[in-house]
Amino acid sequence: MKIAVAGTGYVGLSLAVLLAQHNEVRALDIVPEKVEKINRFESPIQDDEIERFLAEAQAGQRALDLHATVDPQEAYAGAEFAIVATPTNYDSDRNFFDTSSVEAAIEAIRGVNPTAWIVIKSTIPVGYTASLRERLGDSRIVFSPEFLRESKALYDNLHPSRIVVGAPKGDAEAVAAAKRFADLLAHGADPAELERTNADGTVGIPRLVLGTTEAEAVKLFANTYLALRVAYFNELDTYCEARGLSTADVIEGVCLEPRIGSHYNNPSFGYGGYCLPKDTKQLLANYKDVPQNLIEAIVESNRTRKDFVAEQVLSRVSQLVYSGTPAPVVGVYRLTMKSNSDNFRASSIQGIMKRVKAKGVPVVVFEPTLDAPEFFGSEVTRDLAAFKGRCDVIVANRWSDDLSDVADKVYTRDLFKRD
Ligand SMILES: NC(=O)c1ccc[n+]([C@@H]2O[C@H](COP(=O)([O-])OP(=O)(O)OC[C@H]3O[C@@H](n4cnc5c(N)ncnc54)[C@H](O)[C@@H]3O)[C@@H](O)[C@H]2O)c1
Repeated sequence: MKIAVAGTGYVGLSLAVLLAQHNEVRALDIVPEKVEKINRFESPIQDDEIERFLAEAQAGQRALDLHATVDPQEAYAGAEFAIVATPTNYDSDRNFFDTSSVEAAIEAIRGVNPTAWIVIKSTIPVGYTASLRERLGDSRIVFSPEFLRESKALYDNLHPSRIVVGAPKGDAEAVAAAKRFADLLAHGADPAELERTNADGTVGIPRLVLGTTEAEAVKLFANTYLALRVAYFNELDTYCEARGLSTADVIEGVCLEPRIGSHYNNPSFGYGGYCLPKDTKQLLANYKDVPQNLIEAIVESNRTRKDFVAEQVLSRVSQLVYSGTPAPVVGVYRLTMKSNSDNFRASSIQGIMKRVKAKGVPVVVFEPTLDAPEFFGSEVTRDLAAFKGRCDVIVANRWSDDLSDVADKVYTRDLFKRD
């Protein structure tokens, strides 16, 4: 079966590789350099499993029927399914996701292929698929939320927590297509996952076919729950730091309660990355005219956390001035959100950097993956030793042993030294 994928970022490329194990996959991107890289079996993004699968395919050790292209005809003609995995950035002027790339991709698909089942994998506002189907008069559009994590994109599709596809409940053809799409994803997963026993005693990968609007809500509510958990442990940490308590001891005692659990509880400078900040804001926008307190508080909490962290950093700077350092320099150790990542979209440390700079404190950035002399007007260096020497306070959202020799300069809240 031919499957087309529009967009070869984290979502599109991981799905393309997953599905290319058993199908003919043609992936389209509007950036020719990405297309060329994929066709050389090089991953344009840092992701262990994608890199491994592409390297094995290149060495002839793995069959992957994957080709990337910029040509809509080549990508979309004859495809039975066309997956849309293009960006949906949050538009702060409109307070809503910008879905224009999704619509551009759909227009391009339909320009070549009037019958393919279009599966939107991009994260979209609640109610979007239903309104789009109506506006375009196109009943062959469904939505499947994507739950992968960056840097573990293919891993998470090989070992999915669940597969969810949304199709209008009364539309038997669309529901059947949604089920077939769920089967395709399950077929691409690690075969051991089909035998696994879940916490509720069921066997295999849980598959849900819901209405499109419910499926859209699942995605935004799941990410907002994750953001809530991050925000909760960050506020716990803010309290402990402000009052001089040991955060680690409090978290340990709290999380030994099995209903809370000792996972996903490591404090940070705030939730960040491409998805959580924008998805929480989109869910809040979807609450228009619906009563709520919590969703707004989650969004606000992330701002308050960054204000607090920035104040802590600035107070260290003030202490240095007081004790005789004339113009202390703040170092930003990595712009990335996670320790094994190469992208820094909406990373929380940028919020700290912005606040510190706003007070006139000079900032130097160490970011080895950034090939530019400056980042938002601050000097960027790739020389770690020079960075450590220059900076008086070093802020790190995530600890690295590279900082061990300057630990007394480091401000981090990575208490458990893990993501
Ligand atoms: N990154 C994640 O962890 C993650 C997880 C779940 C869901 N999502 C959602 O999936 C969507 C894509 O996210 P991503 O992280 O893969 O984005 P990305 O920015 O990494 O990749 C998107 C790709 O789409 C390409 N593109 C843009 N317009 C296009 C068009 N008209 N046709 C074809 N290609 C086009 C871009 O060049 C880019 O390569 C977003 O809606 C995001 O919210 C992302």
